[in-house]
Formats: sequence, C-alpha cells, structure tokens
Amino acid sequence: MGIRLGIDFGTNYICASYVDEDGNLHRVFNIEGEEKTPTAVYLGSDGVTVGEEALRSGAEHPEFLSENIKRYLQDLDYTFNSPDGEYTPTQIASFIFQQVLSDAEHCTDEKIECAVLTCPAYFGAEGHAAMLWIANSVRLSNGEPLYVPRIICEYEAAMLAYAHFSHENEAKKTVVLCDLGASLDLYLIEFSRKNGKTEPRIISYVGDHQFGGKDWNRALTDIVCEKFYELTGEDDYNMLRDPAFRADIGPKIERAKRMLSVRDETSVLVKYGGQNENISVTRAQFEEATGHLLAQVGMLMDHLFENCGRSIEEADEIVLTGGSAHMPQVGAYLRSAFNRKICLLEPDMAVSIGAALYASNLRRDDF
Ligand SMILES: Nc1ncnc2c1ncn2[C@@H]1O[C@H](COP(=O)(O)OP(=O)(O)OP(=O)(O)O)[C@@H](O)[C@H]1O
Ligand SMILES: [Mg+2]
Repeated sequence: MGIRLGIDFGTNYICASYVDEDGNLHRVFNIEGEEKTPTAVYLGSDGVTVGEEALRSGAEHPEFLSENIKRYLQDLDYTFNSPDGEYTPTQIASFIFQQVLSDAEHCTDEKIECAVLTCPAYFGAEGHAAMLWIANSVRLSNGEPLYVPRIICEYEAAMLAYAHFSHENEAKKTVVLCDLGASLDLYLIEFSRKNGKTEPRIISYVGDHQFGGKDWNRALTDIVCEKFYELTGEDDYNMLRDPAFRADIGPKIERAKRMLSVRDETSVLVKYGGQNENISVTRAQFEEATGHLLAQVGMLMDHLFENCGRSIEEADEIVLTGGSAHMPQVGAYLRSAFNRKICLLEPDMAVSIGAALYASNLRRDDF
C-alpha cells in the first residue's frame, strides 16, 4: 500500500491531496512550500521548468513560456512553438504532472499507489484520452508508471469535499456549485446521501472558459494605469504594449488583487518611462470597477436555470469554490442577487480534496 493522490489539474494551478491511513486529509506542498503550483512550463534550451520558476524565467523570455495548457488539451491541432521545438498540449501537461508527482513523493516520503485525476464537465472523449495519455507518460521515482484508476468530473470531486466538510446527513439537497477560478463553471446538482455514500446528479451545467480571475486582473490594471496617467501623463495604451512593463506589472497586480481579498487598501509600485509611483487602490474602488463582472456571473446563473426550466428557489444553497471565490464581493453578490445561503468551500483545494476522498474510498477490487 502507499498513498492515493487526488490531483486537480486546473487552468492556472495544479494541486494534489491525499488521505492518510487514519483518515486525515493532507495537501501536497511543492518545493517552494506552496499547495498550488502554477501550470506554467518554461521550455528553454537549458531544460524544462514548471511552476513559479517557469514564470520567473518566462518574464524575461516569454516565447519559451507555456501557460494555461488545460485550455488546449482537447484541441488536436494546437502545438506550442518554443524556439527550441514544438510541443503538443499533452507533452506540456505531462511535464506539469511529472512535477506534481515528484513533489508528492518528496513531501510524503511514501510510495504513491495511484492517483485519481479530475477533468472539467466540458471535456469530451478527446479530453479524457488526453488525460490518460498524460497519466501513461509520467513515471514515479522508481521508474514505475502512475496508476490512474479513475478520472472523475471536477463537480463530483467538489461535491465529495462539500459532503466531507458540511457534516450534514440530509438525505437530499439541491445545490448550485459555482466554481470561479481561471474560468467559470456553474452546475445545478441534486445531491443525495445514502449510508454515508454521496451521489451527486447533475441537472444543469453552463460554463464560460474565457471568463474568470484574469478579468479582475485586467480591471485592476486599468485602475492602476489610469492613476499613474493622472500623476505622470504616461499613456496606458503605450505602457501595456511594452512587454517589459507587462512582465513587471502582471505579478504585482496579482499580488494586489489577493491583498484586496483580505485588506481594504493596497498599493502597487508602477515603474515606467523612468518614473516610479506607488499607486494606492482601495477595495471599494476595485469593487466599483468590477461590478459588471459580477453581473456577468449573474447572467450565466440565469442561463443555468433557464436551460433546465427550474428556478433558484429550488436550490437550498450556493456552494462557492475556485480561487476567485477568495474575493469577498463574489459571495456577497451571489447572496444578495439570489437570496440564497452561501457555503464557501475550500476555494483552492476543494477539487483535489474531493478526488483524494474518492481515491481513499476505492476498494482494491475496484482498481
Ligand atoms: N486570494 C485571492 N484573491 C483573489 N483571487 C485569487 C486569490 N487566489 C487565487 N485567485 C485567483 O483565482 C484564479 C485561479 O483559480 P483556480 O486555482 O480555482 O483556477 P484553476 O483551478 O487553475 O482553473 P479552472 O478550474 O478554471 O480550470 C486566478 O485568477 C487567481 O488570480
Ligand atoms: Mg479549478
């Protein structure tokens, strides 16, 4: 026996969890001590790096940097052309999985018995085939292949995590699962529990894979650049066309966005054209500039119900997860616009935790 991983391969981040012999949940931490590894891959002439290190190298040489490869996994025509060669999406994804496996081995010091992977609801046969290809291509440190007994849907994993954390024993419930990460996925789920077994049944699903956290980054960049313009007269159009400026401001905006999830005010040091300005932004300003994005979430929510001829009143609560759910305005908006109770479910880890719970419940005969 060894550990059974649950791996959530997201558009922006990959993360893994497992359940130990005593039933305790653990997260896998990467070499930098983080539980989430960016799905960035730097395909340089001196080798391949994954995660934060890839992002750091990519800031100087973006032509070698692949990001968000999950978006292309179903696209059989897509290739990433690094100056050093061509890579298919599955080849790039396998570098990411290889990294997560070696992090898991380092972090746990135990043999990995198997891994349950997750995939989004919109993945068809091509997406599943791609995930299997990736699983077959990675190796444990002893040279053995990674055994993948199941690939489950992200919503199924999130619902298992929900059942685990909610400690409720209600026989039946209807919930909206809102996964707002790098993209937006909304599900209406009828969820039943029998003899401790959770069975989520999907009634309706809508998703927008071009909409997500980066839209909030864009809005925050606009606020910051506009304030910088007021102080210096530098035109944001020129600033944002400058690759060096984009490479510098991108990570600062991401940090500022996260700061505004927990603080009322933050600042961003903007450097351009020989000028340095520390630009302050308040949460109120950020929320005002991004209200239209919440309205977009609301519109998709309306579609979710229109598509199945049901109404929000039939849902007991809204389960909110995904990295962008850290922004307090998301839950506040959903609560007031739809008048439902909000359950904030492990924004970063719910899917990998659910996959780990699934893996730990598999009987050996099911393998
Ligand atoms: N503390 C935070 N405050 C605001 N936004 C955050 C915070 N933490 C993460 N995010 C945002 O969450 C997004 C990533 O979310 P998540 O990790 O759930 O996506 P993913 O699982 O990789 O993608 P997907 O499930 O859409 O394929 C990014 O846009 C990131 O900026
Ligand atoms: Mg996700």
